[in-house]
Parts: sequence; structure tokens; C-alpha cells
Amino acid sequence: MVVLGLESSCDETAASVVTEDRVILSNVVLSQTEAHAPFGGVVPEIAARAHIVQMDRLVAQAMSEAKIDYPDLSAVAATAGPGLIGGVLVGLMTAKAIAAVADIPLIGINHLEGHALTARLTDKIAFPYLLLLVSGGHSQLLVVEAVGKYRRLGTTIDDAVGEAFDKTAKMLELGFPGGPAVERSALQGDPRKYALPRPMKGREGCNFSFSGLKTAVRQLREKIGIEATSQDISNLAASFQQAAIDSLMDRTQNAVDIFKDEYPNGDTLVVAGGVAANQYLKSELTNLTQMRNIKLAVPPPVLCTDNGAMIAWAGIEKYKLGQSDSLALAARARWPLDPDAEPAPYAGYKA
Ligand code: KG4
Ligand code: ZN
Repeated sequence: MVVLGLESSCDETAASVVTEDRVILSNVVLSQTEAHAPFGGVVPEIAARAHIVQMDRLVAQAMSEAKIDYPDLSAVAATAGPGLIGGVLVGLMTAKAIAAVADIPLIGINHLEGHALTARLTDKIAFPYLLLLVSGGHSQLLVVEAVGKYRRLGTTIDDAVGEAFDKTAKMLELGFPGGPAVERSALQGDPRKYALPRPMKGREGCNFSFSGLKTAVRQLREKIGIEATSQDISNLAASFQQAAIDSLMDRTQNAVDIFKDEYPNGDTLVVAGGVAANQYLKSELTNLTQMRNIKLAVPPPVLCTDNGAMIAWAGIEKYKLGQSDSLALAARARWPLDPDAEPAPYAGYKA
């Protein structure tokens, strides 16, 4: 089985061809970072227009690198939500056109499911496993029970953690995307310099919150004022990173305890999403999983951030179970992985 996967739900345009036996024949990702950088965040209309301009070319490149013709594809998969709807429509409509012309099945993928199943492509992880999904758009803890079967243990009640990194970088004028910039600056700083809140720490359950921390960073930054030295900025970046990751670890620890208790046949914590590239987070997760006697799987960064291979792979998993969609499939701005989970208070599309 060979599947083409398209991704366009945020600010990466991506196309990839993957085989059933886990070979990534091509994986083309075009980041729009530069287009959004002047605004310090993703501008939906700019993103949608860039997807329209780039998608056809990227699909052609992915197909030629994979050395495959359209009729040889078993199916075409595309992100059908959740995400910025203008972008989602571009990838989904492209996939529909390919499905119609090449006369192959269309498979609509939940973007979060793409992230959730990546560890099965890279590390052959068996169900069930615990997933910490941390990106610019999502902060969730989920038990991946089977394809299409997810139990959400926690989600953010306001901002996603990557968003908090991005906003902190903007306040500290460190550039966009903020995560790597904050991490770099933090290396030069003292994380004990400023006492910042650890949102939700010590509370029951696994929900996240990052907006209070963001406000605390802003207030501190304003207090320091125009005299701020680059050392002050690094100290603030380090203090923020420590607080955000302390909070993430506290929530993840609760989730690991629930997972170990309720899923005795599961043994792995998987991390996905752009924030998984953070080295301090990785070392804290390594400590936690060693202490709790559970394995840790972190897919390589190119497959942790948004990409087409995860969509192609999710397509393969679904198609193997006989699932595909009609050409009438609608794009969805919101699409929770666990429809039975209680909506988080103030939940937006991120939840
Ligand atoms: O998964 P992703 O590429 O896109 C989505 O949001 O879906 O994640 C991007 C997010 C951004 O918020 C970025 O600032 C964050 O991941 N990020 C990081 C690091 N690298 C990327 N956050 C913290 N530390 C990093 N090293
Ligand atoms: Zn994503």
C-alpha cells in the first residue's frame, strides 16, 4: 500500500508519500515562517493564500521524489480538520481532485490523529499508549487506545504551550517562531531569577493553563522597562521556560499515574508536536519516565512538527481498517479526537 498525504491546516504546506511497511518515499515541507514573522504569529488569510500558491508544486515534488505515478497510489489522504479552515480547504480540495482523477480512495484525516499515530510509523509502538501533544495549536494528554479511539485526559483551558512560548518571545523581542528563540536565550539565563507561577500545579486532573503565566511574564517585562539588559531578557526567558515546563511535567505526571493504573498493558509515553523539540522538556520527560518506570518515545523533530508523512501514515492505518471517505467530505475547523470528553472551560479550536 502506498499513500500520498497532504497537510495544510496551519502554517506548513506539506506532501509526502509513505508505504505500508513504514518507508517514507518523500516528505516535502514548506514552512511559511517568514511570511508570518513580521506579525509575530500565524495570520490565517496569509496562510491560506500561501497554501494555494504552493500546494500543487509540493505535491508534484513529493510524487517525483517518490518516483511514483498517481494511478499507482493506493489512496490519497489529507488533513480535513481541525485547523485554520482556509488552509484545510486547500489540502482537502487538492486531495479530492487527485482522488477523482486517479480514481483512488480519499481519506480525510484528523490532524491530531496524524500526530497521535506518528509513533507507530517511527517506533512501531503498540496500543495503548499515552500521548503528550504539545504544539503551537494544541496541548493535550491523550490515551491512544486504537485507530479512531482516543481518551482525552487533559487539554488546555486557554493557550497552547507553544503559543505561550511564541507570545513570550514576542514580548521579549526574541523573534518568531518563539520556541527555539526562547530556548536559546534561556540557555544564557538563570531560571531562578524570577518567581513565576506554575499554572495548575498540584491540582487534580491533567488540564493545562498558560495564559496566567504569559501575563506574569508581561508584567515582569514591563517592570524591568527600557533598561532591560540582554541578561535580564535571558533570565526572564529561562524563568518562563522553567515555569511552563514545570507545569507541563506536573500535569503529565498525573496522566502517567492514571495511565499506569488503568492500562496495565501499556508501557510508553509518546511526545509529539513542535514543543517536543525542546531539550529541557526532553530531559525532564526522561527523568519522569525513568522514575515512573515507563518508556519514552520522541519521534524525530521533522515528524513531530506538522508534516505530510503523519497524514499519509494515518491514512494507511485507516485504509487498512477499510475506512475511506466520499468526495462530499466536509472540512472541519473543530474536530475533537475524543468527542466524549468534557469540553474544557473556555475551549476554542485548540481544545
Ligand atoms: O507542531 P508545530 O510545528 O505546529 C503546530 O502548532 O501545529 O509546533 C510549532 C510550535 C510553535 O509554537 C513553536 O514555538 C514551538 O512549537 N516550538 C518550540 C520549540 N521548537 C518549536 N517550543 C519550545 N521549544 C522549542 N525548542
Ligand atoms: Zn500540528
